[in-house]
Amino acid sequence: MLPFIWILFTLTLGKMNVFFVPHSHNDAGWLETADWYYENKVRHTLDNMLGILNLIPEAKFVWAEIYFLSRYLQDYPEKKPQVISMNKQGRFEIVGGGWVQHDEATVDLEMAIRQTEAGFDYISSELGINEVKIGWQLDPFGHSSLTPALFEKMGIEVLVFSRVEYNFRTQLQNSSNMEFIWKPQGLNSENGVFTHVLNNHYSSPSFLSLWFWDEHCYGQLPANETGVLNWYNIFSIQALEDYVLSTAYKYKTNNQLMLIGDDFYYTDWNTTYYLIDLLVKISEQSTNVNFKFATASEYFDAVLSSSTSFEVFGGDLMPLVSAGSSGHPSYWWKPWTGYYSTKPHIKQLMYNTQKFARIGEIISSSWSATKLMAYEVDMCTHHDAITGTMKEPVYYDYLQRIENDQQMLLNELGLQINNLTSTNSTSSTELMIPYKVLFIINPLNWAVKKTLSLEAASEYVRIFDTSNQTIISQSVPYLDNYKSYFTYELQGLQIKTFFVSEYAYKCDGCSIPSTLNNIQTISNNYITIELTKGLLTSLKTQNMEYFIDGTIVRYDTYMSGPYSFVEDEPAEIICELETFNHYSGSIVDVAESYLRYDQDVFIQRIIVDKITDSFIMTFYVYAERNNDIFYRFHQIYKQKGWFYTFNTANLQKRYFEPNASNKTGHNYYPITGGVVADLGDKFLYFIPTFSLGAGMPFENVFELNLHRHPSYDDQLGIGSYSGDIYPVEHEWIIGFTDLNYQSIWDHFLDHRSSPIVFFNTFNNSLTTNFSLATEYNTIPQYKNTYEFLNNFDCAYLSSLVIRNNSYIFRIFNKCNTQIKVDFTEDFEELNLGGLPLNNMRKFNEQGYLELIAYNNTGKNVLEYPKGDGNDGIMPYEMKTYKLKANGIMDKNIMSEVVGGDINGINGLSYSMIIVCGAGVLGILIVVVAFRANKRDKIGLEQLKIELD
Ligand SMILES: *[C@@H]1O[C@H](CO)[C@@H](O)[C@H](O)[C@H]1NC(C)=O
Ligand SMILES: *[C@@H]1O[C@H](CO)[C@@H](O)[C@H](O)[C@H]1NC(C)=O
Ligand SMILES: *[C@@H]1O[C@H](CO)[C@@H](O)[C@H](O)[C@H]1NC(C)=O
Ligand SMILES: *[C@@H]1O[C@H](CO)[C@@H](O)[C@H](O)[C@H]1NC(C)=O
Ligand SMILES: *[C@@H]1O[C@H](CO)[C@@H](O)[C@H](O)[C@H]1NC(C)=O
Repeated sequence: MLPFIWILFTLTLGKMNVFFVPHSHNDAGWLETADWYYENKVRHTLDNMLGILNLIPEAKFVWAEIYFLSRYLQDYPEKKPQVISMNKQGRFEIVGGGWVQHDEATVDLEMAIRQTEAGFDYISSELGINEVKIGWQLDPFGHSSLTPALFEKMGIEVLVFSRVEYNFRTQLQNSSNMEFIWKPQGLNSENGVFTHVLNNHYSSPSFLSLWFWDEHCYGQLPANETGVLNWYNIFSIQALEDYVLSTAYKYKTNNQLMLIGDDFYYTDWNTTYYLIDLLVKISEQSTNVNFKFATASEYFDAVLSSSTSFEVFGGDLMPLVSAGSSGHPSYWWKPWTGYYSTKPHIKQLMYNTQKFARIGEIISSSWSATKLMAYEVDMCTHHDAITGTMKEPVYYDYLQRIENDQQMLLNELGLQINNLTSTNSTSSTELMIPYKVLFIINPLNWAVKKTLSLEAASEYVRIFDTSNQTIISQSVPYLDNYKSYFTYELQGLQIKTFFVSEYAYKCDGCSIPSTLNNIQTISNNYITIELTKGLLTSLKTQNMEYFIDGTIVRYDTYMSGPYSFVEDEPAEIICELETFNHYSGSIVDVAESYLRYDQDVFIQRIIVDKITDSFIMTFYVYAERNNDIFYRFHQIYKQKGWFYTFNTANLQKRYFEPNASNKTGHNYYPITGGVVADLGDKFLYFIPTFSLGAGMPFENVFELNLHRHPSYDDQLGIGSYSGDIYPVEHEWIIGFTDLNYQSIWDHFLDHRSSPIVFFNTFNNSLTTNFSLATEYNTIPQYKNTYEFLNNFDCAYLSSLVIRNNSYIFRIFNKCNTQIKVDFTEDFEELNLGGLPLNNMRKFNEQGYLELIAYNNTGKNVLEYPKGDGNDGIMPYEMKTYKLKANGIMDKNIMSEVVGGDINGINGLSYSMIIVCGAGVLGILIVVVAFRANKRDKIGLEQLKIELD
């Protein structure tokens, strides 16, 4: 059979070109900590391969994880010139280029960008590498349509990975579509990325592997010259050529990518040397196939410069289901859907800390020109960190790292905020009792009105400002303490300073205690929420009632594990309402349900204020071993195609697929942005504060994972599973929405970037915990308000950072209208990763690739509106700009470099203003300001005062 195919291929495609691309996949922690891997593996890999590049002129190498590379070059700075020169010669290529290889199911767009930017920043500033063309997501457990959208905007043309759903893989192979153009449209991306699904995981073919020499007895890899000769005796070039041929049908061109490597590869010099040497000999001796060493780019240049056209895929590749082959058939199909929710505590910690990282970056870069990097958060976007798929000691190592970053950010924010808000002028307030200092920051650059709270031991706290103006608050019992709620309007990126005093008794201006009843109906002027047995039953708005019939359910976890969630048996309804309290007052209604399940008590709170048409639901929960716990909802309004998932790029419609042995797990999805359920004539949204899994166990039913605690390891790599000791508290915003991107993004940003309440502690650090705040007795010296940006309604300032004395900022257009941007020479547009824009290749498209294995292709359901040209920021597009360092910057002038009108909300017209000024010590202080015409003068004068 083979010779015939051989001839066929040779005739139709010409001689095959095989590109050996040596690589090593380096997890930043998994079975061992990142430190351990660095010391025991990665540094040897880099030593050996840099040695090989010196010794063997044909050899090449690609590297992905910048966390490890930067660490290595910090320890061995003498290697830097070689890395730079090998890169220039095209023998050492950076692929991926992020700090780590981030997970795609649990990481939202800002986390993904931030970790990639950290890597790009390093290679650009330290190695002079200003372009990464190849996306390298070899290992993540399924691929989100967010990834190609983001990567295209980061200047990445090609995406390489290995893990795709097994039915889909079979289809791709049989139709020669293992390479396709992935074009899911999110974030207004246009070209798509060229996608390569690896043939053989990311390993070398077994007979060229250091590890697998069993099945066909190809023999162990050579460990010396004799070994190299033996390899030819046991194996042969002919057999390798046959292997190449037997794989060729899966791809369309006569080029074949052959990765040579695996996890933590090339750690031993002798095997490294003899393996590379063997490959050199193979390339010299083969006559039927052109074997040669290459970087990934060389392979893709060969593929993309051919005239071949490729099919276009528009969906996403979640969930991953893999096929096993041994044991009982029910164990064959592994849905990798558990890790969406495994170890929820690390997910919660990551999202909390990212919120501080973003606001920390904006404040420190714009105010004190400080480069602030949350490297540990970046590291923990790694696909074995935030995913919860690691051994226990590694888990604690990650938690410690994120906590360290969080403390660093609180210290830095504290220094900056205290500096910005303190004053020497004597305050008029004479305080009679000790007080604590409260800062509220609005992380959004538009005005918001929000109900906030602080938790104190007393039910009587007084919140007031420097002029002794009291903010009315309402206290609600909260465990052994009280939460005092207050409603406040903040301008965009505003910092407000208040003081808080606790009293042991009722006092003038103190929080007003709530009244208590046990009515399971909570409402305001916009929405009425009905509970039954303490759980959500229906929502009423505009005289229409929508039943959603909430229950708490659990699944056994005998078939599941840290990676996988298998609905082994139908879920059982759990939880008895033990206590129910409904607290009312002038600011909020809080309905508190204590739900008993076995020896645990879960606490649900529904918080409804007077001003919003949505509500907050918090849920405190812990899963004991052998429990996978969900909040389940039934809807009775729609059949088929009523459930949507939002991954912070695309809104995707999901269909229920009846479970079959080979379809298990197809109904569970990762939620980084939110879910939307179509209730006939209204759409109900749920937006969580941190990522989790959600799914459809039946048609008409959806459920959100609250906590999970598998009993066993699922034999997908970790080897042992010892559980999770941390409860979490979810905080979802729930309400009705229109099905359009502007509404979805508004709700999403409103919740994810809700105002943060901080308290001052010793050394001017901050805490979010009132009981840990420092109590002062001296006269407070604070300004009431600090604002450094004016409101802007459409352009969300996603980040503002300083790099090499230049300011780089990222803007997301959350409106349905284009933002026009007129450039002057002071600005440079960068790609989303912060590197110079490059010319993106156009791909030859041919037809549409339909995923026919099951319905859930995850195609984007809302078209992205196209703008009227290339200038400006299209609807739902994100762009990065750099303020160029040139002569203009050191003049203390204000220049309107970006202008133009858009039809913003309320018909106002907006401009983007750049204010430049020379600050102390010659450091340039630049503030990016968004000016509403209505209030421009105020804003600009303020800025000028601050700058002077
Ligand atoms: C060479 O390597 C082979 C295994 O590939 C081993 O059996 C043999 O002992 C080695 N010879 C020497 C001289 O080390
Ligand atoms: C590597 O090869 C050299 C030269 O053949 C030999 O002396 C040395 O023992 C080998 N090292 C290992 C770890 O096998
Ligand atoms: C804030 O920091 C600047 C620059 O370091 C310093 O000059 C100024 O005195 C500080 N202001 C306060 C109130 O500490
Ligand atoms: C306040 O006064 C102290 C002592 O005179 C001085 O060091 C500090 O810089 C002043 N801070 C501000 C914000 O003026
Ligand atoms: C501040 O306001 C509180 C509450 O209204 C009042 O009791 C107190 O006397 C005021 N303090 C001053 C110094 O005006």
